Amino acid sequence: MQPASKAPELLNTRALAHFVDPLPIPMVAKPVGMRPSASNPESQVPYYRIVMRQFQAKVHRDMQPTTFWGYNASCPGPTIETRGDQPIFVEWVNELPRKHFLPIDHTLHGAEADKPEVRTVVHLHGGRTAPESDGYPEDWFVSGQSATCYYPNGQEAASLFYHDHAMGITRLNAVAGLMGLYLIRDEFEDRLNLPKGDFELPLVLFDRSFHLDGQIYYPVSGKPDTPWVSEYYGSAILVNGKIFPYHEVEPRRYRLRFLNSSNGSFYRLSFSPEATVSSEALVFSQIGSEQGFLSESAQGTLLILGPGERADLIVDFSSHAGKEVFLRTDVTVVMQFRVSSGKNTDPSSLPTILRPISRIPERSAVRTRELTLADYQNRLGRSSVMLLNGAHWDMPVTEKPVLNSTEIWSFINLTDDSHPIHLHMVRFQLLDRRPFDLSVYQLTGKMVFTGPAESLLPSELGWMDTVRVDPMTITRIIVKFENFAGRYVWHCHMLEHEDNEMMRPFIISAQ
Ligand code: C2O
Ligand code: CU
Repeated sequence: MQPASKAPELLNTRALAHFVDPLPIPMVAKPVGMRPSASNPESQVPYYRIVMRQFQAKVHRDMQPTTFWGYNASCPGPTIETRGDQPIFVEWVNELPRKHFLPIDHTLHGAEADKPEVRTVVHLHGGRTAPESDGYPEDWFVSGQSATCYYPNGQEAASLFYHDHAMGITRLNAVAGLMGLYLIRDEFEDRLNLPKGDFELPLVLFDRSFHLDGQIYYPVSGKPDTPWVSEYYGSAILVNGKIFPYHEVEPRRYRLRFLNSSNGSFYRLSFSPEATVSSEALVFSQIGSEQGFLSESAQGTLLILGPGERADLIVDFSSHAGKEVFLRTDVTVVMQFRVSSGKNTDPSSLPTILRPISRIPERSAVRTRELTLADYQNRLGRSSVMLLNGAHWDMPVTEKPVLNSTEIWSFINLTDDSHPIHLHMVRFQLLDRRPFDLSVYQLTGKMVFTGPAESLLPSELGWMDTVRVDPMTITRIIVKFENFAGRYVWHCHMLEHEDNEMMRPFIISAQ
């Protein structure tokens, strides 16, 4: 890693007054009309038009307004709510300025100086989307243009999210604010009688650092021509766009839909009765992970959420009437829940049995791919580039699973970091994580395990689309490549890594 250049004086976000701003709830997007469906022209489906704009927002009462880029001029953008098998169109319109306000590195692949500075393409993360609507990183468009995507939503109820994916500048477009939630609902979910309406809260977490004037700070390397830095960690965690917000709740169950849309931060989240990072961690129930419901609700006190990951939680405030509950990590308090006093009738249920999930048998896999995650010098001699299986973005496609076949992908992490690895379009199951001896592997290429496979948490037994791949560990997932044939991408969801070659195309071949 290269040394970051001397940082300017930044706003001390830790010193900001706590719990003075109410938690904003993103608007729910409204369709602007109906259009004939792409799959069945006889039927009409909702048509949304969402415009990316520059805007200003106050992230804290005591700060100057911050410039953001957002979908419909908000960050998070409007929440799109739809139902499984209810297809929609979204016209994504770019009305952003033509100059970027964050430091572009023109030596990164796809961000060369002859490319327009401001380019966008929208990906629906977790969506079963045909390749032409999936937001391929090179399918970007510029200010004044738009792209219309068709989302069939042929999948189970889940928390997805949409965000920018433009080649070589995804990390900057994300830091600027281009992200939003996308909730798919279905009848199975309706029957569970979960808390809904005001009792279902989207919680979109991301971290940012700020200049003294309230503008977003993004660090640069010491070298003016290659400003890319390997990771972005902000000093403050924002929830739905506010620092240290509060939310008034009733003493009853709430459903909390978490998304970590940070560029690089993993969060270790707990709920506590006091506003300190060491106070008691209260028990919550996790009912869903990225691709929908778990088979059984899982009780826990710690939620680990990497970049791109989601979690669906039920938190019961009924025994905290008249008190406060805090969401915290192990380094900072994040937000406050003010629980009203008095009795509350809670008609919702907390089912223990959720959607059945059959584990994909290992023997159904037609092949296992061993794929390394490793640090290299890049072709420009840059100090650090991280590659997937030693390959750059523009090298020939090597992962070409056959449509409807099942494979095991075995991620061998040779770096010192955890990486959240995401595959587009498919859902998968985590098989196991097993530690190995990195130095023996590096010297001899031999795989020597240093222990048995770690047992998985109940919350890791659900359907995923992003998986945490820990250092010196082999993480195996099992994937059925169903739904659509065509070209997609898989990548690390630490966006600085993704932008610097830690992303590869894969092709699902029809035969
Ligand atoms: Cu959430 Cu390819 O990304
Ligand atoms: Cu990474």
